[in-house]
Amino acid sequence: MGVGPHPLPWPEDSRYDPELLEAGDRRNVVDRYRYWLMAEIVADLDTRRHGFHVAIENFQHDFNIGSVVRTANAFLAAEVHIVGRKRWNRRGAMVTDRYQHIRHHEDAQHLKAWTATNDLVLVGIDNLPGSVPIETNPLPENCVLLFGQEGVGLTPEAHAACDRVLSIAQFGSTRSINVGAAAAIAMHSWIGTYARIPE
Ligand SMILES: C[S@@+](CC[C@H](N)C(=O)[O-])C[C@H]1O[C@@H](n2cnc3c(N)ncnc32)[C@H](O)[C@@H]1O
Repeated sequence: MGVGPHPLPWPEDSRYDPELLEAGDRRNVVDRYRYWLMAEIVADLDTRRHGFHVAIENFQHDFNIGSVVRTANAFLAAEVHIVGRKRWNRRGAMVTDRYQHIRHHEDAQHLKAWTATNDLVLVGIDNLPGSVPIETNPLPENCVLLFGQEGVGLTPEAHAACDRVLSIAQFGSTRSINVGAAAAIAMHSWIGTYARIPE
């Protein structure tokens, strides 16, 4: 994956990293960021981040959290929030977390307080009783999408903290889908409603 050393002459732009220009860039980044310094990529992303945040409960070091973070990077979430244990399983993130702003909250109450202070709607994503379908209830533009953990789902505390809870319609026999898949569907629902899609 990636590109080799940059041919001479090198571009004269301070966003480029001389070490990458010399050695090549093997990172998992889109072509427009090839050879850029990581800080410059983050700064550029910061100029166009979307209005949704992603939050996930973290108690079991679940490897799915990394996958959620990677999708949050792909869809350019404003921030990622880890709720519960501070240390989370980065394996599935494939280093995408370095381009993301990650904030830790010790519990759902702290997340709720932070969300209210920042004028965001806290939207739980789960198929718990009382949830309404995401397909017919559009997400608010400025929101935090809160996901539970694989296996247990949203904790009662997190469920109670949510301003509303949306479910993803299912039609088969399984009780639920994988949280990484659910997160991708929910984020893409926001994208389908609000993002400017380049032609
Ligand atoms: C594997 S699910 C488990 C919880 C689920 N409430 C149950 O009864 O089995 C883990 C997480 O994935 C997400 N999820 C899975 N299926 C979902 C669905 N149909 N609608 C919304 N979220 C879903 C939610 O964030 C949930 O907390």
